[in-house]
Amino acid sequence: MHPRTPPRSDAGAPVVASTPDIASTPDVAGAPDVLVLGGGIIGLVTAWRAAQRGLSTAVVDPEPGGGAAQVAAGMLAAVTELHYGEQGLLALNLASARRYPEFAAELEEATGQELGYRACGTLAVALDADDRAHLRELHALQSQSGLASEWLSGRECRRLEPMLAPGVRGGLRVDGDHQVDPRRLARALVTACERAGVVFHRTWADRLRVARDRARGAVLRDGTELSAGQVVLAAGSLSGELAGVPADVIPPVRPVKGQVLRLTVPKAYAPFLSRTVRAVVRGSHVYLVPRENGELVVGATSEELGWDTTVTAGGVYELLRDAHELVPGITELPLTETRAGLRPGSPDNAPLLGPTRLPGLHLATGHYRNGVLLTPITGDAMAHALTSGELPEDARPFTPKRFSVLEEQPV
Ligand code: GLY
Repeated sequence: MHPRTPPRSDAGAPVVASTPDIASTPDVAGAPDVLVLGGGIIGLVTAWRAAQRGLSTAVVDPEPGGGAAQVAAGMLAAVTELHYGEQGLLALNLASARRYPEFAAELEEATGQELGYRACGTLAVALDADDRAHLRELHALQSQSGLASEWLSGRECRRLEPMLAPGVRGGLRVDGDHQVDPRRLARALVTACERAGVVFHRTWADRLRVARDRARGAVLRDGTELSAGQVVLAAGSLSGELAGVPADVIPPVRPVKGQVLRLTVPKAYAPFLSRTVRAVVRGSHVYLVPRENGELVVGATSEELGWDTTVTAGGVYELLRDAHELVPGITELPLTETRAGLRPGSPDNAPLLGPTRLPGLHLATGHYRNGVLLTPITGDAMAHALTSGELPEDARPFTPKRFSVLEEQPV
């Protein structure tokens, strides 16, 4: 599992057994109960919650807390990022959003670190007639789905956010879509794991160890062989690249590039924006996420370019152009960072959680646009699966088995 490795050609034989998996004791003395491959926020929350349940846990990652969380803006946008055909995912997103206040408080208490969780709400605005039609449709879908959002005129939008362009034609006020700082979240999860006794192996995992039709651990880059009772593959967009995974359980995830900018709001300009402001401009999403510490995150492109993480002049230009149309004053702000990351996309844009058809192997990946939002519920669902062998009710639709290439054959 390395960055930018070409697709694997050495997948093992298909696994046909579908044995119910239960918490397993490792067959090697001193081996952890759970080995998590990937130390981004999803792997870390899984490890933290597993350790809290009394499972001895280890994480393999060269840079725990790195990955997509270092790029993401941290919008908790269950309502404003609603899409047709994603109603099942909506239920999971909303359930996770509801857990955020308690989750953030617990993590802050456990670590003494602030997460930048901010219940600020979101305003989605329209710049022209097409944007307004798009937003009206989103509003209708939100209403049909029983979600709280309020249609505002352009003037009402500007009353809420005076830095908005005079041309804003209307918008949707969604007071329930908040934000968290993903970098602080990642840092706090590393600390929480350390305090809960999670062991870190700061290297890559090269291969899954499979023996007697069961995942048994992993071989690390330096040749070390680790054993474990259960293995969780939580390597974001790299999750499909680990050697040794049987062909029919390789997660169907792909990298979807996002370029993101960070600007700084000088104290003299504050409050520049008081909530997240977003729009679809010429078919592309743009959002501005203001943090309490003065950081303003502008995102994000969405590009299907494989493993490429180049920040391009075109990407930066388009983001600034679109953001400038919404909030002209941003061109006065210092541009402090440009960065690109990879979302782990899945075929239905929803995550893959819990046991696979290979006993002992679980997945926690494919979170696509919702990794930060789904962190609390992923940790809870994975801890449940690791201790009981089953996903909890609300996470069952997200079993990786929905993508299994081998259908049950009639005999
Ligand atoms: N959820 C925001 C993004 O993926 O760009």
